Amino acid sequence: MSVKDQLIKDKLPKHIAIIMDGNGRWAKKRGNARVFGHKHGVTAVREVTEASAELGIEYLTLYAFSTENWSRPKTEVDALMSLLVTTISSETKTLMDNNVRLNAIGCKSNLPGSVQKRLDECINQTSGNNGLTLTLALSYSSRWEILEAVKAIASDVESKKFNIEQLDDAMFGSYLSTQGMPDPELLIRTSGEQRISNFLLWQLAYSELYFCDILWPDFRRDDLYRAILDYQGRERRFGKTGDQIKK
Ligand code: IPE
Ligand code: IPE
Ligand code: MG
Repeated sequence: MSVKDQLIKDKLPKHIAIIMDGNGRWAKKRGNARVFGHKHGVTAVREVTEASAELGIEYLTLYAFSTENWSRPKTEVDALMSLLVTTISSETKTLMDNNVRLNAIGCKSNLPGSVQKRLDECINQTSGNNGLTLTLALSYSSRWEILEAVKAIASDVESKKFNIEQLDDAMFGSYLSTQGMPDPELLIRTSGEQRISNFLLWQLAYSELYFCDILWPDFRRDDLYRAILDYQGRERRFGKTGDQIKK
């Protein structure tokens, strides 16, 4: 039986988040410049997007560029930004064909104008799609997001929109850029690294973490199915005992 056929259809995660890592090492192994790996990473993005849409996953959130990634050599950053522009343009048809709605989180104003423009165009063009929501985390870091939320909350408390005592988990979540989305049940990180790297710290509080050694440009549909299958075999207890969960 194929890995896909082994998936339990009514136990699929609603939201999958992925830290797409290992592009540079993939390129280096082939004696190429790091950007070669980023270019090949696009195929993996297309594969997981199509596979998620087909399965009926509601949200897929991809960590594409972190706040910390701005510290990379300018040539790599520039290449990544122009790759973003060309990829968004060339992949809009894939999104339309698969009923995917594009969304972005992160400090948009830090992105070059050309990226912001393409992103906005694609977000508008796909806004009527009601299948998978594909969120790209760009110039994103979770501490940045949490600080932005705290500032907005402080300002709303100051202007007496609500009392600080009213603030709870759900309300705090509504100040984050993922507002309206369920928390990811599953986080995947490729390339063998086992860390969160400032991604969705609040939202990942109870996510199942899945690490695999595959370098991102090699990640394919079956690797996604394998991660979901692994997730489906886990017992999510949320602080309760195993016996309580089985009841
Ligand atoms: C992930 O691959 C892509 C981005 C962070 C933009 P890397 O570029 O981090 O690749 P490695 O980790 O150096 O191999
Ligand atoms: C995390 O990968 C960011 C993205 C995948 C966009 P990095 O490769 O930048 O993370 P670290 O620096 O190794 O933790
Ligand atoms: Mg990396």
